Amino acid sequence: MKLTLNGKLKNVDLKVIAASGITPAKLKHWDKSTLAAFNKVKSKKSFKAEFGQEFSFLDEKGNRIVAFGISTDKKITSEDYRKSLAKFYKMISKRYASVEVELDHFTGNLNAEQALEAMAEGLLLSSYKFENHLSKKEITELKSVNFVTKSKAATLKSVLPKVIKVTSAVAIGRDLMNEAPNILNAPAFASYVQKDAKTLKNVKIKVLNKAAIVKEKMGLFLSVNAGSAYEPRLVHLTYTPTKANTKTKHIALVGKGLTFDTGGYSLKPSASMMKMKYDMGGASTVYAAFKAAVQLNPNSKISCFLGMTDNAVGPKATMPDSIIKARNGKTVEILNTDAEGRLVLADVLDYACDFKPNVIIDAATLTGAMLMALGTEIAGMMSNSDQLSNKLLESAAAKEEYLWRLPLIPEFSRDIKSPIADLKNMGGSRFAGSSKAAAFLQEFVKEGIDWAHLDIAGVASDQSHLPYCPSTGGSGVMIRTLIDFMLNYK
Ligand code: BES
Ligand code: ZN
Ligand code: ZN
Repeated sequence: MKLTLNGKLKNVDLKVIAASGITPAKLKHWDKSTLAAFNKVKSKKSFKAEFGQEFSFLDEKGNRIVAFGISTDKKITSEDYRKSLAKFYKMISKRYASVEVELDHFTGNLNAEQALEAMAEGLLLSSYKFENHLSKKEITELKSVNFVTKSKAATLKSVLPKVIKVTSAVAIGRDLMNEAPNILNAPAFASYVQKDAKTLKNVKIKVLNKAAIVKEKMGLFLSVNAGSAYEPRLVHLTYTPTKANTKTKHIALVGKGLTFDTGGYSLKPSASMMKMKYDMGGASTVYAAFKAAVQLNPNSKISCFLGMTDNAVGPKATMPDSIIKARNGKTVEILNTDAEGRLVLADVLDYACDFKPNVIIDAATLTGAMLMALGTEIAGMMSNSDQLSNKLLESAAAKEEYLWRLPLIPEFSRDIKSPIADLKNMGGSRFAGSSKAAAFLQEFVKEGIDWAHLDIAGVASDQSHLPYCPSTGGSGVMIRTLIDFMLNYK
């Protein structure tokens, strides 16, 4: 689907106009012939122009028109637009090839840029399909949408190119999550990113293979990979802005890239093991966000670290009760091999600290406890910094994604101390499992670095309550929040 702004469409199969009510005063922006045609349609009484309600009719020339209701008692948000355009997309995408939208009708309490951004995001995020393995692909009629406006503002012209970068990155994030674990193993994941990132300007790529990870003494990361048929990979991307100087800020992103999580010897029961291909959702999220952000020329330097492996069972797999030394020298008693994400992240966080970033943000499908605490609609955040967490909360609010901060307290850090090693990889009880996992990660973040951990176990996939997300599969939730954070970080 191509979105143009004020381009010329050859034929328009459907024209979309907006109605903020059905009284003459509320429809005075419609042209006379459209209004006359509308008034002749008997069934128009069913149309109240409530927000998101659609009414289709033919104008006097026989052109198909859809009146889209935008009247509401409450304030309309961008999210309202995203959601209703997602529903609209489903209605039109199989029937019309070219659609024209009267943008100037649609602004309401949003400005034209905000309305255009939200509408385009709603359409493009909904047009996503994962069809890599389907012999017969679904046919979509819709090829182009043109937003028509009288405005010539440069700010308006820059909206669609940005939305396309952001939503294309979300599509890549979703694709990576949806790919099967026998295909997207760690080496395949790393090769994909390496190839994809080559197209990005000002970006350097380094991929550490198993030998390099051994050389780095990443004992915890390697212990997770021990039972795997595939080598692990650590992908390290660095974006340096053209105008970088000594004052340039440095953001580091870290992602959990478990291409599959069986639990290891602490094997998951079969029902819980299903969908564990999504356990690389942290890595796909931060990579997608990195990709979109660097295409939008942020002022900060951005590093992105992706820790990739699967967690499998095999003769060499790590046994529970093992004691392993981390890259930072701390020893860890592995009580449960299913608490593997924190082990991979621990060594990767320590590695990231070597590059002395101002802030580190990690994203991970880290704990089942996250779903107990916040459900499948809200991402959890734990952080050592009020300033960083407030900035992330601001970005989430701006992008209308749900993010909630959970506490980290010294008692949680005490609960992950082992009597026979420096740490153990799970707390003494099931309670506050997400925060205790975060307390474990905190042991690997160097003093003086602001760090935030996003536990996306609940939101990374199957967001059927969001009409612009596929009902099953990778969602891409938190990518837009992270992009906003990176673009606004000072
Ligand atoms: N990948 C899982 C967490 C998860 C669970 C993500 C459900 C998405 C949906 C993680 O590696 C895990 O298994 N965590 C354990 C930790 C426990 C053993 C301390 C969990 O949450 O049960
Ligand atoms: Zn696990
Ligand atoms: Zn896991």
